[in-house]
Amino acid sequence: MLDTIQKYIDEVAQFKATKLDEIEAFRIKFIGSKGIIKSLFSDFKTLPNDQKKAVGQALNTLKNAATEKVKIAIENLENQIGDEGIYGDLTRPAAPIEIGSRHPISIVKNKIVDIFSRIGFTVSEGPEIEDDWHNFSALNLPEYHPARDMQDTFFIEKNPDMLLRTHTSSVQVRYMDNHKPPIRTISPGRVFRNEDISARAHCIFHQVEGLYIDTDVSFADLKQTLLYFTKELFGKSKIRLRPSFFPFTEPSAEVDIYWGLETETDYRITKGTGWLEIMGCGMVDPNVLKNAGIDPEKYTGYAFGMGIERIAMLLYQIPDIRMFYENDVKFLEQFKAVI
Ligand code: PHE
Repeated sequence: MLDTIQKYIDEVAQFKATKLDEIEAFRIKFIGSKGIIKSLFSDFKTLPNDQKKAVGQALNTLKNAATEKVKIAIENLENQIGDEGIYGDLTRPAAPIEIGSRHPISIVKNKIVDIFSRIGFTVSEGPEIEDDWHNFSALNLPEYHPARDMQDTFFIEKNPDMLLRTHTSSVQVRYMDNHKPPIRTISPGRVFRNEDISARAHCIFHQVEGLYIDTDVSFADLKQTLLYFTKELFGKSKIRLRPSFFPFTEPSAEVDIYWGLETETDYRITKGTGWLEIMGCGMVDPNVLKNAGIDPEKYTGYAFGMGIERIAMLLYQIPDIRMFYENDVKFLEQFKAVI
């Protein structure tokens, strides 16, 4: 009889149920009023006394195991957890962890900052809401100067002296107020211009401007620094400086890089010339130094400024500036691999 009971104990231990009627059948079979355990107990009564202890213990084990099994099976079914417990199957493959991506503007800004940090430039920041002095007047753009029209400005209605900065040159003015030469700093940041939004222009965009002031700084220093920069960022080693005009620099120039004409795309984006304009630059106008309390007889300097969106569009062949601000994940996800 002990063997039979042991066989039932094993059967109970192995029982698994996924449906309620399976559990009910199991319950009736073992602990129902006409079930196995009931009949085993009546057999038990007829046993000789010397066997009763062992068989009685085994019978109790079986009864407890069957009762417990029914209880747990029902509980599991109610919680829909299954036999693996609340953590489920611990050997299953983990769900993939989604990693985010940096915004292309941050990626390119970081690259530019990194390149200039390597040659000793610090990073400086300033307010986006500026006063007229720092954005214009100190930069050799007095009131009513026609060159102010070069940058369509958002003024603050209640206080016409305040505006949204049109370039981060304003940060350089602040930097000169607080630092003595030698000065080597770049100013990344968001700028605002009252322009119609199109594939090439937006009313909000980002710039990195650079400023270098020391004794004996020459135009050759400027050109060499920009050549180093374009080599590092684009891997292109040919640049040209075209004469241009900015009120705060004299002489001023526009910087083009030689992009090449090897592919159809090169041809299209350079309009068949192979050259692409990437930034403005020049030697800091003596008036600007004077306005900042720096002696122009003793010091000279250069400055440059570029739009981050434009550089990012070139680097990653992005056809429309508006894509930077739409936050379309299909666009942003493409930068996951870039750090
Ligand atoms: N501040 C200029 C702009 O926003 C760029 C520039 C900076 C040009 C420094 C020359 C020197 O257009």
